[in-house]
Amino acid sequence: LVYAEIVEGKTKLLVPEGSLRAAAPPTAPVFFNPAASVNRDVSVAMAAAAGAATFCDSLAGVGARGVRIAKEVEGTRAVTLVDFNPLALKLAKKAARMNWVSRKCAFEVSEANAALASRYGRDERFESVDVDPFGTPARFLQGALAATANGGILSVTATDTAALCGVYPKVAWRRYGAVPVNNHFHHETGIRILVNAISRRAAAMEAGVSPVAAHATRHYVRVYARVEAGARKADESLASEGYVNWCPACGSTEASRERAERCPRCGARGKSAGPLWVGRLTESRTVEEAAGFAEGMKFAAAAKILWSLVGVDAFPPWSYSIEGICSTLKVATVPESAVRERLAKAGYRSFRQPFEGTGIKTDAPYSAVREAVAESRPTAPPRHPSQ
Ligand SMILES: C[S@@+](CC[C@H](N)C(=O)[O-])C[C@H]1O[C@@H](n2cnc3c(N)ncnc32)[C@H](O)[C@@H]1O
Ligand SMILES: [Zn+2]
Repeated sequence: LVYAEIVEGKTKLLVPEGSLRAAAPPTAPVFFNPAASVNRDVSVAMAAAAGAATFCDSLAGVGARGVRIAKEVEGTRAVTLVDFNPLALKLAKKAARMNWVSRKCAFEVSEANAALASRYGRDERFESVDVDPFGTPARFLQGALAATANGGILSVTATDTAALCGVYPKVAWRRYGAVPVNNHFHHETGIRILVNAISRRAAAMEAGVSPVAAHATRHYVRVYARVEAGARKADESLASEGYVNWCPACGSTEASRERAERCPRCGARGKSAGPLWVGRLTESRTVEEAAGFAEGMKFAAAAKILWSLVGVDAFPPWSYSIEGICSTLKVATVPESAVRERLAKAGYRSFRQPFEGTGIKTDAPYSAVREAVAESRPTAPPRHPSQ
């Protein structure tokens, strides 16, 4: 196997040469995905903002995330890197040496759940635990929750977006105990299903969660959540469980404690996503601080992701597709900015949907958005009087 030395952020990494060229990096003999650098940039910024002194990279691979946190986050005192692939950890160990952070790093060749669960009930839990598996994180949630200190942050990547975002509802049901939707807010729904699955798992262990940040791309969804011990915290998080009921016929959408079989507006058969997390997704102070850190480090894409989240919790847990409304109205697509201006004039607030490629969040009902779209249609330019 040929290795390449690369630099990501401020950190030198040792990675399989082949992973830099392949469209889908090989999983054997060791895995490294250069395209996940933005995911790791956000992670570094979040660690800096949250100020966790101890970090566990529980599925560490070649150590890209863990070694970067050891190197790039000043307040980090100790990083534990776990992977059951000894070759991966050998490279991680070398990377730690190359960056002069060996002193801060510990390496455990172990099955992740075994390493994580071994911390349960002991004074050796981590202020931050990361779970970055191939595919679904479902099987690692219990261990990760067990290893997170009271008030600490659990971060989770899920690359099974096809399940979470509604392409394979049966798989989502099996892994997360929830029904997804495949529509214009399916990434946000995927994030909320994942958060609620974490909350449910935490509740069984008498702990609650409160999300700090979340983001989504085509390939993965990512969630950061604070874990707080106690039955009361668990009950508080369960109170954020609900459904998003969406009517494909008339477009009306609502969040509710209950699954709705029929649309309350038009009576058509509705779609109901959930159970999912209908509460806040961000801790804005931490997100703003992370965004500022990312900006300072010139992590442009990460900074953009983080800034896009600031203010999102003032809006309902779904969005409207302007493109979709235009096609329902059979009119040419109008710019989102024009629709948002109209909504503002009508007294509504709106926000760029941060979790999907397009769309807007607003406190306006569907009917008002539809009206704003209709009014935003470009009219034929007036003819010059002299012509
Ligand atoms: C997606 S990669 C991690 C990538 C890494 N976090 C990064 O940012 O480069 C998943 C890693 O988990 C390891 N792995 C998978 N299942 C595991 C398990 N049950 N216990 C320990 N390691 C596991 C694999 O060997 C692989 O290195
Ligand atoms: Zn309806």
